Amino acid sequence: MTRLVFPEGFVWGAGTAAYQIEGAARADGRGLSIWDTFAHTPGKVLHGDTGDVATDHYHRFREDVALMADLGLAAYRFSVSWPRIQPDGDGVVNERGLDHYDRLVDELAAHGITPVLTLYHWDLPQRLEDAGGWGARETAERFAGYAAVVAGRLGDRVPLWTTLNEPWCSAFLGYAAGTHAPGRADGALALRAAHHLLLAHGLGAGALRSALPSGAEIALALNLSPVRPADATDGAADAARRVDGLAHRLFLDPVLHGSYPADVLRDTAPVTDWSFVRPGDERIIPAPIDLLGINYYAPLVVDGGGEGAPPGHPSAWPGSEHVRLRERPGPVTAMGWNIEPDGLRTLLSRLHKEYPDMPLVITENGAAFDDVPGPDGGVADTDRIGYLRDHLAVAHEAIESGVDLRGYFVWSLLDNFEWAFGYSKRFGIVHVDYPTQRRSWKHSAHWYREVIRTNGIDP
Ligand code: NOJ
Repeated sequence: MTRLVFPEGFVWGAGTAAYQIEGAARADGRGLSIWDTFAHTPGKVLHGDTGDVATDHYHRFREDVALMADLGLAAYRFSVSWPRIQPDGDGVVNERGLDHYDRLVDELAAHGITPVLTLYHWDLPQRLEDAGGWGARETAERFAGYAAVVAGRLGDRVPLWTTLNEPWCSAFLGYAAGTHAPGRADGALALRAAHHLLLAHGLGAGALRSALPSGAEIALALNLSPVRPADATDGAADAARRVDGLAHRLFLDPVLHGSYPADVLRDTAPVTDWSFVRPGDERIIPAPIDLLGINYYAPLVVDGGGEGAPPGHPSAWPGSEHVRLRERPGPVTAMGWNIEPDGLRTLLSRLHKEYPDMPLVITENGAAFDDVPGPDGGVADTDRIGYLRDHLAVAHEAIESGVDLRGYFVWSLLDNFEWAFGYSKRFGIVHVDYPTQRRSWKHSAHWYREVIRTNGIDP
């Protein structure tokens, strides 16, 4: 087969997030976040794992940046820990927290790696949760203040800024299903949270625009999975529409079109009257963005369920508790997620069709597998290479067909704290031996280095 070569300037990167890798949970004045509280609550995270130490990246960032340089990364996507910058989420700024990211950004620059900064990857200061969390409108205003502080310090060296990572997870896993911090199971609260996250995005994007030099770009990263009905019944078709509504259009429509989708408002009417949306909010949320970040892992296949969730059963789909995610035959990753590069094809062509002028970047794509290190610490992860290669082939095809796709960030640079799954799931292209913190290249890392070096893949 012919080699697939990507356009010149296509950005090759890798991603991480603060709570998943940094550790150093109490270093240099860092406050507590909702993930500290959640992970330290028995029964919330597998094996009682926490991010207290994680990959100790906070102390080892220079070693990790050297590793990125060896890989040949053009860009590195990381997140800033809000409670390092504002320990209580208020106006009091912890300079030592800012100093850390200052050093990280300088280290990246010294190695010719472009920093791509996410402001919020799920670690809300606990004090803000105590005051209502994302259920409180004030949290959105606080976020804008935090965005301005970080932009003021790093704006001269960071060309691409993401406000939020996967607000669907923050709202619906955090406040409806309760499987993520802060672990609430209240559908109405989750919808409020979704609105306030969107407001935070709009206010934050505005604050960034005023604080950043012209030319700096602003993005939002959404977890987008095409939703398919499991069968040809009307129930499955309706479930697919509902899930698509809550997972995609609830976020994309207000951000890119300036209004909430009517069917989502209807579906959720038994749960909330949306009176938390104030006049003018739908003009704030569509603050112009320069790029849309896509996190893609697998499609969602749903049916109408029939029985409905038992009363009181926490569901990630407020107002549509009867919908059921269906397992599908075929290869899966260690997360149990189906491996379907086709889903990425569907997603990219839909986004291109609906928002033809919005440049796209794949801010996350990757897979967890049950890696077994060899004696040298390396891992022969041919399954991960296959996953990455097949998704990149789809990305290439999309570009050829006219989709404005600017870059690809593999998730993740390192094995790390996979939220409720703790350290049991490994997404890294670099293996981390947690007791020693030794980093070892998996075969996928060697493979990715070649992809970057040659700007292409052999399909
Ligand atoms: C989405 C999240 O952004 C990231 O934090 C997580 O580790 C990966 N997907 C894998 O689940």
